[in-house]
Amino acid sequence: MAALQKSASSSLMGTVAASCVLLIALALQGGAGVPVGAHCRLHNFQEPYITNYTFMLAKEASFEDNNTDVRLIGDKLFRGVNMRDRCYLMKQVLNFTLEEVLLPQSDRFQPYMEQVVPFLADLSRKLSLCHISGDDQHIQRNVQQLKDTVKKLGESGEIKVIGEVDLLFMTLKNSCVPKSEAGK
Ligand SMILES: *[C@@H]1O[C@H](CO)[C@@H](O)[C@H](O)[C@H]1NC(C)=O
Ligand SMILES: *[C@@H]1O[C@H](CO)[C@@H](O)[C@H](O)[C@H]1NC(C)=O
Ligand SMILES: *[C@@H]1O[C@H](CO)[C@@H](O)[C@H](O)[C@H]1NC(C)=O
Repeated sequence: MAALQKSASSSLMGTVAASCVLLIALALQGGAGVPVGAHCRLHNFQEPYITNYTFMLAKEASFEDNNTDVRLIGDKLFRGVNMRDRCYLMKQVLNFTLEEVLLPQSDRFQPYMEQVVPFLADLSRKLSLCHISGDDQHIQRNVQQLKDTVKKLGESGEIKVIGEVDLLFMTLKNSCVPKSEAGK
């Protein structure tokens, strides 16, 4: 009886162990089978209400932005960066915008900020596995220039970042949403 129980339980253990191995194998395969860059993708997120809130937030902030000759999200940011790496670049800009500007200033520009911050944080989470293959130094350099500009401008740099949140939104869409989905 005891021997029977023992063999039943060891075969159960065997099954559990085999399932674990299978799960691990599947997980590894999932990781290795997905090409680099495949996670640099978002589904179309242009719902009317959040688009409106994002544009209203940008508009409110840009009323306070005196510095009209600096543009953060523009040609300079993308200089030398391939089309296919732009989502990865925008991921860095999004991270910076959230961490250094929107979260610290999250009590301002209500009621827009309280809607837009969790929305953008969710996009940032969805891009957490987005990486590119090879050297990303040129991308980091462009992003660093943006960060340096904001830091140099201080408070008015942060206002400018919020004033460009509409550009951030549109550029994320253009860079990360597949063209086949974007028109919908
Ligand atoms: C957003 O909605 C408000 C009213 O709900 C409207 O006045 C405003 O024009 C809209 N803004 C944009 C950018 O669509
Ligand atoms: C920004 O990036 C860092 C490092 O990858 C990560 O730990 C953090 O959660 C990101 N923040 C947001 C708001 O996505
Ligand atoms: C913009 O200019 C006004 C008037 O010169 C000043 O009071 C305000 O602090 C400036 N705003 C920023 C964000 O620098």
